[in-house]
Amino acid sequence: MKSISLIAVTLALGSTTYAASIPKSARAAETSSTFDYYNGTCTSEKVRIRKEWRDLTGSEQKAYLAAENCLISLPAKSGLAATTNRFSDLQALHRGMTNTAVGDIIHDVGQFLPWHRYYMHVHETLLRQECNYTGPLTYWDERLDADTGDMFTSPMWNSTGFGGNGIGSDGCVVDGAFANYTEHIGPENEDTEYCLNRAWDNSWAVEMANSTVIYDICGGYNTYSPWWYCIAELAHKGVHTAVGGVMADIKSSPGDPMFFMHHTYIDKVWFDWQKGDPTSRLYQISGPAINESANAEPAGGYPNTTLSYVLSSDEILPNVTVETVMNPMGGYLCYDYLT
Ligand SMILES: *[C@@H]1O[C@H](CO)[C@@H](O)[C@H](O)[C@H]1NC(C)=O
Ligand SMILES: *[C@@H]1O[C@H](CO)[C@@H](O)[C@H](O)[C@H]1NC(C)=O
Ligand SMILES: *[C@@H]1O[C@H](CO)[C@@H](O)[C@H](O)[C@H]1NC(C)=O
Ligand SMILES: *[C@@H]1O[C@H](CO)[C@@H](O)[C@H](O)[C@H]1NC(C)=O
Ligand SMILES: *[C@@H]1O[C@H](CO)[C@@H](O)[C@H](O)[C@H]1NC(C)=O
Ligand SMILES: *[C@@H]1O[C@H](CO)[C@@H](O)[C@H](O)[C@H]1NC(C)=O
Ligand SMILES: *[C@@H]1O[C@H](CO)[C@@H](O)[C@H](O)[C@H]1NC(C)=O
Ligand SMILES: *[C@@H]1O[C@H](CO)[C@@H](O)[C@H](O)[C@H]1NC(C)=O
Repeated sequence: MKSISLIAVTLALGSTTYAASIPKSARAAETSSTFDYYNGTCTSEKVRIRKEWRDLTGSEQKAYLAAENCLISLPAKSGLAATTNRFSDLQALHRGMTNTAVGDIIHDVGQFLPWHRYYMHVHETLLRQECNYTGPLTYWDERLDADTGDMFTSPMWNSTGFGGNGIGSDGCVVDGAFANYTEHIGPENEDTEYCLNRAWDNSWAVEMANSTVIYDICGGYNTYSPWWYCIAELAHKGVHTAVGGVMADIKSSPGDPMFFMHHTYIDKVWFDWQKGDPTSRLYQISGPAINESANAEPAGGYPNTTLSYVLSSDEILPNVTVETVMNPMGGYLCYDYLT
């Protein structure tokens, strides 16, 4: 799992025709824009503000964890294999998207970020509609911790939060709001009973998620394909691997409620990048729509991800196009991030 080195990624990116030269000024660009993102039905009165875990009050934190546990307490509805509760519908949906007729259509493809943005919205919709959650959606600002050199210092890992590292030979998580949760989906394509588990690797996390990676290495790209690939391979994959256990499972990782803290953060990193040059980046999409190594080339050539590519959640919510989710304040979606 830890075979991806920065050097390999940098070389791979450098060898594509996308290679971009851009001043390393992403930090300044993020805050300098006066672009008006509100569109369609999304207005300043309606916009929901997503907040970092540490920006929630204690009672907001409790309410979020309770809503997640509410999904766990409700019956499954999707009809997908091996589901045992509403939360597991989301896990099965994610795994299903890695096992389509053309292989995994949510990782290593251009729609990786749009699909996961949509998936975060599906998760949020279930929390609100089925568990009456009214608070802000939340995320883990991984950069904050990576830059201190201690990735697991945030109070979100405490025994009233998401719980800490796994213990014992199975690495089971035995404290926190999801202590001793039993998984039924996974590992990978198996359906077995096992504990929610983690196996932290601090130094890997710090190397993959710090500000140098976000701003200087990935932030140096001003076109979507190399930027997306850099974030996906480093910050995204790196933290999956470094939290470890269920989170390190490319198929069944949404079985750790942490998954949604991680991917909402990755979504924020994307929106921050879009905000760096909204005129050019807000609707910029590219990349292969299928795994080209796993599929024979179709007659018309390998398909690319476009704004009209259709994202599916196996009918949990209606299908939408990539275009619909490109702007988080575009109408179908209506959220921003506090910081
Ligand atoms: C607003 O929506 C229109 C129509 O779909 C689209 O052409 C335009 O790019 C959108 N603007 C923003 C800022 O999302
Ligand atoms: C959500 O609120 C509705 C209306 O008050 C209620 O019927 C329902 O049981 C609540 N759902 C949960 C999971 O608490
Ligand atoms: C966990 O952290 C939160 C702050 O994010 C704090 O309110 C809570 O008391 C902490 N719990 C424990 C057991 O330390
Ligand atoms: C989880 O299981 C462990 C080991 O069996 C036990 O010590 C712990 O009390 C359990 N935690 C909760 C919150 O049930
Ligand atoms: C931040 O990440 C870069 C790239 O992985 C690494 O070279 C550097 O040592 C990291 N910085 C710290 C303070 O860990
Ligand atoms: C893409 O296909 C190759 C070759 O079959 C495989 O090794 C790789 O894991 C696939 N990537 C994903 C994300 O499924
Ligand atoms: C997909 O994009 C690549 C790289 O930009 C391009 O070479 C190829 O022709 C595109 N494929 C199709 C079917 O348009
Ligand atoms: C949603 O999209 C998926 C994938 O393209 C497709 O298989 C499915 O038929 C679509 N569902 C509807 C209701 O259009």
